[in-house]
Amino acid sequence: MKFIVYNVRDDEIPFIEKWGKDHGIEVKYTTTTLNQETVEEAAGFDGVSCLQTIPYSAELFESFKKMGIKYLSLRNVGVDNIDLPAAKENGVRITNVPAYSPESIAEFAVMMSLYLSRKVGYMRQQLDQKHQFHFSPNFMGRLMSEQTVGVLGTGRIGRAAIKLFKGLGASVIAYDKYPQKTTDESFVYVKSLDDLYNQSDIISIHMPATEANYHQFNHEVFEQMKDTALLINTARGSIVDTDDLMYALQSGEIAGAGIDTIENESADLQDSRSTKQVTNPDVLKLSMMPNVLITPHSAFHTSEAVKNMIDISLGNLEMMMSGKIPADLVD
Ligand code: NAD
Ligand code: COI
Repeated sequence: MKFIVYNVRDDEIPFIEKWGKDHGIEVKYTTTTLNQETVEEAAGFDGVSCLQTIPYSAELFESFKKMGIKYLSLRNVGVDNIDLPAAKENGVRITNVPAYSPESIAEFAVMMSLYLSRKVGYMRQQLDQKHQFHFSPNFMGRLMSEQTVGVLGTGRIGRAAIKLFKGLGASVIAYDKYPQKTTDESFVYVKSLDDLYNQSDIISIHMPATEANYHQFNHEVFEQMKDTALLINTARGSIVDTDDLMYALQSGEIAGAGIDTIENESADLQDSRSTKQVTNPDVLKLSMMPNVLITPHSAFHTSEAVKNMIDISLGNLEMMMSGKIPADLVD
């Protein structure tokens, strides 16, 4: 058996090479993004490992079928960008890695909350733009222990975030569309989303993107939130209406935002060898705002996560090739 790994960054290569050697399996890797034009590179391979936030289209799965490729193993969690019915129709089995390191994303959400709460963006702006290095009333922050954090989605990452926010002394409330029975007394579920919007000083989003929550955070919601509130989105860009967010930040409907995921991410985002300058006007505008921390979908990116993403995704391919059904099969 032999596998091909798409969308590879340099930091993944040692883990891929080690896995191939340890398992005696040929694994080719490429920095190329997987799409209709590049799928030919997978000819002759039994399984594909990939990680990307741009769409996996019906045409791509039709090509997989023509090329006799039956297995696509994602190195990531989210499956919102996949035409799953088309994959099924074309006999392609898909796995993801649901728990490569929930703590990595949770920690990043907390880091963004602290950065914004402690006004670090204002300090950077004074230093970077005015080259001044002195106190300012603009730098007065808020203690996490005096804030109520609203966690939206209490799955793997949401729960890890709750633990960290609690460790900093915050009060935590949460909302989940499918709440699990829990004996965890470190947070309380609010009865409605409105309660989460009204009561939170910080809202941290940890749910998957679906058709139902497309632009859930829009003008009406920003109006409901406290004008001192912070919004942290390390989940998926489509959940937040970027135009409405921009207005909310500029008009003072909310106080700040941590944006690791922004809607309409392009293939460029994941090209780690790219030397292209950013042209997305939203990214440029948000990056200039002292009350915003915007990052290129990097909450996942720790060495612990990368090792697990490679080992588990290639392990899933090996299992499927051996006729076993991995626990990470995506239905
Ligand atoms: P999970 O499946 O363990 O938990 C998701 C939770 O959200 C579940 O409890 C589910 O019931 C809840 N949920 C689903 N739809 C909801 C809705 N409309 N409203 C409220 N709650 C809802 O998933 P996870 O591992 O915690 O990951 C969450 C998301 O984080 C992923 O789907 C992915 O989009 C994103 N993610 C981002 C990064 C990053 O680097 N920024 C990395 C990994 C995952
Ligand atoms: C995920 O694992 O779902 C992520 O968002 C990480 C990204 C590298 C695709």
